[in-house]
Amino acid sequence: MDDNKPRIAVLISGAGSNLQALIDATKAGILKAEIALVVSSKGKAYGLERAAAEDIETMVFKNKKYPSPEEAGRDLVAKLRERRIDYIALAGFLSLLPVAVVRAFRNHIVNIHPALLPKYGGKGMYGRHVHEAVLASGDKESGPSVHLVDEIYDNGKVLEQAKVPVRSDDTPDTLAARVLEQEHKLYPRVMQKLINGEYALD
Ligand code: GAR
Repeated sequence: MDDNKPRIAVLISGAGSNLQALIDATKAGILKAEIALVVSSKGKAYGLERAAAEDIETMVFKNKKYPSPEEAGRDLVAKLRERRIDYIALAGFLSLLPVAVVRAFRNHIVNIHPALLPKYGGKGMYGRHVHEAVLASGDKESGPSVHLVDEIYDNGKVLEQAKVPVRSDDTPDTLAARVLEQEHKLYPRVMQKLINGEYALD
């Protein structure tokens, strides 16, 4: 444990390629922080294996296992506090983050979304669905957004975006791959700027 560095919890539900990008950035010194905890909304997620391979503590958190959303929120806040977490990075986390967590860590929680918000955000807009909607719209560009997390899905202030072209022969998979490549560069950079206090917060 490094006592001087800010401690980040990364919340995932699946592959965890953004988690890996954040881990790699800490190793490269691009992100001066410690990935101190990985929380998954699913018991089986490749991201959990990535975390284990790096000796990062992991935890499975399922909202539905609690009698109420309030209790789920209280428990998760307590667990994050126990581990002295400073920042939370949502990286393909597909559950709604309990309101108690949003309130306890306001302006210290970010999410990465695979489209240019405010377009193509909101409930049900994740992963492949987002890229299908972009292709159906005829938009000529797409790209990831990193935004602050508030009580509403994909609603908080957008901190940064990166743009990629949408090609006429794109499929959801080819577009997703082009966007994901940018996600991996963008997310560590935004985390470091947030830690540096470079953004005007709400
Ligand atoms: C990423 O493309 C991320 O932007 C997206 O899920 C993927 C997770 O990939 N998130 C959303 O759609 C949130 N609405 P990863 O598990 O390999 O990082």
